[in-house]
Amino acid sequence: MRQLKLVLLCLVGAASLTWSFVIAQKKAPPAARNTYGENNCVICHARLLEPVGVSAHFFEWLNSAHQKKGVGCEKCHGGDPTAKTMTAAHSGVLRQTFPQSNLHPQNLAQTCSSCHQEVVSAFVKSAHFQKLQGADGAPDCTTCHRHMASSVITWPPDTATLCSKCHNAPGGSATKYPNVSKQAGDTIAAFSRADGIVEWAYSLVNEGKQKKLSFNAEEVKLKQFEASLKEAKTQWHAFDLTNSRRTADEVFQQATEVKDGIWKRLPE
Ligand code: HEC
Ligand code: HEC
Ligand code: HEC
Ligand code: HEC
Ligand code: HEC
Repeated sequence: MRQLKLVLLCLVGAASLTWSFVIAQKKAPPAARNTYGENNCVICHARLLEPVGVSAHFFEWLNSAHQKKGVGCEKCHGGDPTAKTMTAAHSGVLRQTFPQSNLHPQNLAQTCSSCHQEVVSAFVKSAHFQKLQGADGAPDCTTCHRHMASSVITWPPDTATLCSKCHNAPGGSATKYPNVSKQAGDTIAAFSRADGIVEWAYSLVNEGKQKKLSFNAEEVKLKQFEASLKEAKTQWHAFDLTNSRRTADEVFQQATEVKDGIWKRLPE
């Protein structure tokens, strides 16, 4: 119930924010306008009452990392954001089921690659990408990231369940790899553990700064650990589980040493 209330609050909050933007932008000078002030996909979709499913996609975008970084609907869907009518704006916008759609599972990697080149280069090396090019199923970007990357499958059991559907289940479509599901779940857990220790170390650095201590050498190391973790997460997309797990564990061990070192220097 509490969760539901939260979600409702967020929705109402997001909606009223949008409305105040729409109203405010009419009077505000151009420089003060929101990045999307001229984007008709955004202006029209923010007001849609029906179909509610289409409207919900707008709010998913509104709360996403993509929205914050200025990635409008047309960057993935195509279409013309300068056109004011639906028909003109939708020219080129095709549902995912059409083979020519930017978002069809076979074209998705290409669509995302304009901004996520390294991840996509890793992904296209995998057998999964090869299978997506044919009729067989395999996980694509939206299987794990949903519409807006607003959720990533980061809960280990969810990942294991996903892999099991094809690799362990009786009648599953792919080669049986009895260990792959557990290994994938464990790799995700190793990412989140490594993220956690780096975050912990940073919070101690900040505590130290408030007490006028400096940790420059440690901060340099923490930056390196973050870069290694990013690399491990990129390699994950080639389903190179052994190497991504190893990198995440190395970060965990080394960052633990750094964290302990900072801890010792902090006054009681
Ligand atoms: C003037 C209003 C308007 C504008 C501008 C507009 N849309 Fe839509 N859009 C709609 C409506 C209404 C629907 C629901 C149509 C339906 O269910 O038949 C919709 C549906 C969609 C869908 C769901 C799939 C589909 O084809 O039905 C997508 C995706 C979409 N719009 C993307 C965009 C993008 C991208 C832009 C900008 C390039 C855009 N829209 C501009 C009104 C608009
Ligand atoms: C980062 C890429 C990306 C951006 C940006 C994006 N979308 Fe999408 N959208 C997708 C993908 C991929 C799908 C298909 C997968 C799905 O439905 O979960 C999709 C599906 C949809 C659908 C469902 C279509 C259907 O067939 O029912 C709607 C509606 C939609 N998007 C609207 C929007 C609107 C409106 C915006 C901007 C406010 C937007 N999207 C921005 C990638 C994007
Ligand atoms: C026009 C550029 C662009 C396109 C196209 C694009 N993205 Fe992104 N994406 C971004 C930016 C910018 C960020 C934010 C990165 C950051 O903050 O470091 C991002 C973030 C992400 C994240 C991380 C989300 C988070 O909360 O940290 C994922 C996952 C993602 N994108 C998946 C996709 C997928 C899948 C597609 C294709 C359907 C796609 N993106 C298309 C620019 C893009
Ligand atoms: C099997 C699930 C899965 C699939 C399929 C998948 N991803 Fe990911 N993706 C993840 C996980 C797990 C992470 C790491 C999340 C974390 O721990 O921060 C991630 C992270 C990312 C990030 C952020 C990377 C960073 O630097 O932190 C981007 C961008 C991204 N994915 C894009 C994509 C694109 C584009 C595709 C399709 C070509 C795709 N993903 C397919 C699971 C998946
Ligand atoms: C929708 C079905 C499906 C899902 C879900 C799925 N796979 Fe696959 N996977 C395949 C197919 C099809 C192949 C290629 C042919 C084969 O080996 O059977 C494959 C191949 C692989 C390979 C072989 C290595 C390679 O690239 O050559 C690995 C490893 C793998 N998958 C790991 C995973 C992991 C980890 C997950 C969960 C995150 C997962 N798979 C989820 C269908 C799936």
